[in-house]
Amino acid sequence: MSFFDITKKRSSIRAFKEREISEGEEEKLLKAANSAPSAGNLQSYEIVAIKNKELKDELVGAAHGQKFLGQAPIVFAFLQDEERSRKKYGERGKLYSTQDGTIAASYLQLAAEELGLGSCWVGAFEEGKVADLLETSKRPLALIPVGYPARKPNKNSGRRELDDLVRFIE
Ligand SMILES: Cc1cc2nc3c(=O)[nH]c(=O)nc-3n(C[C@H](O)[C@H](O)[C@H](O)COP(=O)(O)O)c2cc1C
Repeated sequence: MSFFDITKKRSSIRAFKEREISEGEEEKLLKAANSAPSAGNLQSYEIVAIKNKELKDELVGAAHGQKFLGQAPIVFAFLQDEERSRKKYGERGKLYSTQDGTIAASYLQLAAEELGLGSCWVGAFEEGKVADLLETSKRPLALIPVGYPARKPNKNSGRRELDDLVRFIE
């Protein structure tokens, strides 16, 4: 698929088949995330790849009952490593480390689409609970469940018109 086909086709998937994803697919997803740009190339984030069923079910509880997190064969948690960026960039490192982690998560979502997998960005969760479950002091930025889609996505979630979104300065 061309890059433009991938961006056009990707939609949030919130129902997954029981089918596992292969280690090769996992590696491709993680390598895509790892190729994302980051401030000073510091990659100020951490990824936790969760396959453990009990832990995934606990994440559902921490994410206001979003059941599809428990259905997906794997959930990638992106954690912000603010300290890593702050060492070089001071206060600005707070923003940079948020951006580093979110760009990497986006790359992983696009790679999932290329592999015929589905994913959904999950941001609605109790941060403290997720951090406790993952035994980390880093801030969880996003949970990305990935798996084989069990349903076709809702057709075209619609977007703002470019005229509404973009302001050219010539
Ligand atoms: C920051 C952020 C937080 C989100 N949180 C959730 C969430 O908690 N649960 C969910 O089902 N979708 C969540 N989404 C997915 C959006 O609802 C979805 O991307 C949007 O409706 C556009 O639909 P599409 O991804 O199918 O194009 C989130 C997306 C972003 C970028």
